[in-house]
Amino acid sequence: MAKTSKAKEMEGDVYYPSEQVIAQARLKDWDALAEKAGKDLEGFWSDEASELEWFKKWDKVLDDSNKPFYKWFVGAKTNIVHNAVDRHLNTHRKNQLALIWESEDGKQERTFSYFAMNREVSRMANIIKAMGVQKGERVTIYMGRVPEIVFAMLACAKIGAIHSVVFGGFSVDSLQGRIDDSESKLVITCDGSYQNGKIVELKNIVDEAVKRCPSVENIIVVKRTGQPVNMEAGRDHWYHDMCALPIANGKCATEVMDAEDPLFILYTSGSTGKPKAILHTHGGYMVGTYSTLKYVFDINDKDRWWCTADPGWITGHSYIVYGPMVAGATSMLFEGGPTFPYPNRWWQVVERYGITVFYTAPTAIRGLMRFGEAWPNKHDLSSLRLLGSVGEPINPEAWKWYFRVIGKDKCPIMDTWWQTETGAFMIAPTPVVPLKPGSGTRPFFGQEAEIVDEQGNPVPDDTEGYLTLKNPWPAMLRTIYGDDARYVNQYWTKYPGRYTTGDSAKRDKDGYYWIIGRVDDVIKVSGHRLGTAEVESALVSHPAVAEAAAIGLPHEVKGQAIHTFVLLRSGFSPSPELAEELRQHVSTHMGPIARPEDVKFLDKLPKTRSGKIMRRVLKARAQGLPEGDISTLED
Ligand code: PRX
Repeated sequence: MAKTSKAKEMEGDVYYPSEQVIAQARLKDWDALAEKAGKDLEGFWSDEASELEWFKKWDKVLDDSNKPFYKWFVGAKTNIVHNAVDRHLNTHRKNQLALIWESEDGKQERTFSYFAMNREVSRMANIIKAMGVQKGERVTIYMGRVPEIVFAMLACAKIGAIHSVVFGGFSVDSLQGRIDDSESKLVITCDGSYQNGKIVELKNIVDEAVKRCPSVENIIVVKRTGQPVNMEAGRDHWYHDMCALPIANGKCATEVMDAEDPLFILYTSGSTGKPKAILHTHGGYMVGTYSTLKYVFDINDKDRWWCTADPGWITGHSYIVYGPMVAGATSMLFEGGPTFPYPNRWWQVVERYGITVFYTAPTAIRGLMRFGEAWPNKHDLSSLRLLGSVGEPINPEAWKWYFRVIGKDKCPIMDTWWQTETGAFMIAPTPVVPLKPGSGTRPFFGQEAEIVDEQGNPVPDDTEGYLTLKNPWPAMLRTIYGDDARYVNQYWTKYPGRYTTGDSAKRDKDGYYWIIGRVDDVIKVSGHRLGTAEVESALVSHPAVAEAAAIGLPHEVKGQAIHTFVLLRSGFSPSPELAEELRQHVSTHMGPIARPEDVKFLDKLPKTRSGKIMRRVLKARAQGLPEGDISTLED
C-alpha cells in the first residue's frame, strides 16, 4: 500500500494497493466483475448463491412483480444454519475453529470447532423447542457477549424460530418495547454481563421489562456473573440445568426453510416513532453476508476474523455470527471493550490469537488514538492483513492513524457503508481498489447508488444530496415486521422505485462516495443508532418534564453526542441537580449509551405551526449556524 505516482490519475489523497496485496487478492479485476454484475444482476447473484448448499435450488433468482416487496431465490429451500454450521462438518473445516471467545478479564478462553458448534447449537435448539417455541415464533435474546448468544441465535434459526436480539446495553423500556412488539414467548438472557469490570444486571432488567410483556411464558438464564438473581418457579430456567436434561442432546435436525422465510427481526431507530423491526430472511441474507465478506475482506477458511461489534447490532449479526460462519472462517468474540483495564486490551487479543482481519468503528479508533501509539506498539500486530471500518464516516485523521499505527502501512482499510436494513455491505472497496481516506469507495457488485435532490433528480458530482440505491439486493430487508405500510412509506415512497437510505452523501469525479450523515432524526452515538423520539419519550416519562427535544451534535470521539432541551411542568424549576437527574433518568430507562451529554431548560421549543418540534433550528442555534428556512416556525 503506497501513495505512488499513480495517485495523479485520481483526485485527492489516494492509497493504491501494493503488489503484494494484489498478488494475494482473490479478485484481481474489480471493474470486470462490476461490469458483469451490472449487466446481469440475477446472473451475478445466482453464481454467488451457487457456492452455497441448498436443499432445493430456486425457480427464479429475483421476483420483482410486487415492488417493493422483492423476493429472492424464489422456490428455494435452505436454512442459513445448514450453511453456517452443518455443511462444514463434511469438510476439513469440521475440526477448525468456528468461534474463539475471551473473557473481559482475559482469564478465560473458550473455543469451539465447527463440530463443537454443531453440538452446542443443537443442544440449545432442543431446549428452545422444549419450551414450546415453534417455527415462525419469536424469541428475544438479551445477553452479554458470551458464546451462548451465538448458540442462541443459531439455535433459533436452526428450528425456524425468529430471533430478536436486543443489545445488552439497552435498559428496561427499550427491552420491554421490543419484547412486547415482537410478542416473544421466550426470552434468553444471562444473570449479568461484565462491562469494564462492573456487572450489568441483565436478569433484573428482564424481570422489570416482562412485567409489562404478557406474551412471555419462559425465560432461559445463562449463568455468567454468578450474583444472586430472582428465579420465578415455572417461568425461569437456568440454562445449565436444562443442559443436564436428556432432551438437551447434541442432535437436532435443521429445519427446511423456504428461502424467503424470516430469519430474524432486529429493532432499529427510524425517523419518528418507536423503533422498527427490520425483517431479514434465510436465503437472501445468507447469500448477501457471505458474498460481501468474501469479496470485501477476501475471507477464507484460514482467516481469524475479528469484528469488534456487539452481536446485538446488525454488524454483529452479519459479521460476527452469520457471514464468517457461512464462509467457514474463525470468528473472534471478545467480551470486553478496547480500554479496560488498559488501552492495549484489543491489541493483546490481536496478538494472542493471530487475528488476520480486524473490523471496528471509527469512534473506537478515535478513542484509542487519544492514548497514543505506545499502547499498540507494545504488541506484535504482524498477523493483520486487512482492516475495516463501519458505522459512521471515518475522519481522514483517524483513518491515517489506523493505517499507520495498527496496519503498519501495509493493511488496506475497507470502509464499509451499510445499514441494519441493507443486511450487508452496500458501498465498500475490495483489497485491490485504490482507497481515499474517508470514502467507502464504490457500490458493491450489482448495486448502483445515486445521489439526488429533494425532487429526486440526480445532482452533479461533488454536490451533496440524498443517497438512494437503485437496485434490489438479496440481503435487503423484506419489510418492517408487522407494518408493511411503514416499510413502503419509509423506504420507497419519497423516490418511487428506489430505496431511500436516510443518509446524505456526495460523489466525487472518480465515482467515489462520501457519506455525510443522517438526514432524519437518527443520531449515531459512538456508531450506535438511536432515535431522537426514543430519548424524548424517555425524558417526558419523568414527572418534571412537559416537553422535550433531542438532537445530535458533533463530538470528537463519539462522532455525535445527544443534546437535549426540556420544558418543565409548572411547579418545577431548572437546576443543575435536575439536569443531572434527567440525564440519569434517560440512562436508566433506555441504557447508558443514550445518556444525554447535557440537558438545557427552555421556556419554549421551536415548533412548526402544526406543532412539530423543529430540531433543525435547535441544532443550528446550538452550533451558532444560520437557522435556514424558518418560514414554518410558529410566531
Ligand atoms: O449513517 C450511516 C451510518 O450508519 C447508518 C446505519 O446504521 P445502522 O443501521 O446502525 O448500521 C450500522 C452498521 C452497518 C447509516 O445510515 N454508517 C454506517 N456505515 C458507515 C456509515 N456512515 C459512513 N460510513 C460508513 N462506513
